[in-house]
Amino acid sequence: MTNIFGHRGAAGTHPENTMISFMEAERVLADGIELDVQLTRDGEIVVIHDETLERTTTGTGFVKDHTLKEIRSLDASYKFPDYGVCKVPSLDEVFNWALSNYLIINVELKNSVFPYDGLEEKVIQLVRTYHYEKRVIISSFNHKSLVKCLKLAPEIEVGVLFHEKKKNPWEYARKLGANSIHPNYRVVSNSTIIKSQENGIAVRPYTVNKSKEMERLFSINCAAIITDYPEKAVALRNKKSSR
Ligand code: G3P
Ligand code: CA
Repeated sequence: MTNIFGHRGAAGTHPENTMISFMEAERVLADGIELDVQLTRDGEIVVIHDETLERTTTGTGFVKDHTLKEIRSLDASYKFPDYGVCKVPSLDEVFNWALSNYLIINVELKNSVFPYDGLEEKVIQLVRTYHYEKRVIISSFNHKSLVKCLKLAPEIEVGVLFHEKKKNPWEYARKLGANSIHPNYRVVSNSTIIKSQENGIAVRPYTVNKSKEMERLFSINCAAIITDYPEKAVALRNKKSSR
């Protein structure tokens, strides 16, 4: 069965990367959530997609130039003001909430623009504190960072993110030491997904929002999809399995 991960929680219907968005993914019975992390000026891990605050919060400037306290004072309700004021969560807040459920948590390290010295160590330390080694998947477009994660914590799965076509991506993943890939859904054909999975590399494409694409990926037993619309994906998957 294909797992369903809510992208930034349930970003199609709720303010991305906020607690209300993650709670929505849980409510609609998604199997997991995907979220993005950056480091603040005082070295705290915050859950936010962009390096800058403008797009999704009432703040301005770089995340790395603000303290956690400053970032927590902002409103991240973004294009969904009806939900009221939503704060930017820390990763610790998300992990603490996740004690009450069994969601898989895909933590994407946003360290391609700024390297965020120590981000890998901090995320791994937090995963270990919560004993989440078997329910967290660390992913990144920064593949050097993923190799570092595997060296520091071989017990935690890493997913190789990419958005360009790759020949035999399972070989690339294997060379890095990873056992999953997280490609943009447009750059992987059915045969590439099937061959990857036959070679022991799980495939979790992003961001799969169209019903047709969801059905295609369910039909070939893709390991997971990452979607802004987990409710719709769960309903489609249920419909398929009841046929
Ligand atoms: O992790 C999958 C996907 O979230 C990667 O792209 O830009 O949405 O973080 P982006
Ligand atoms: Ca992401």
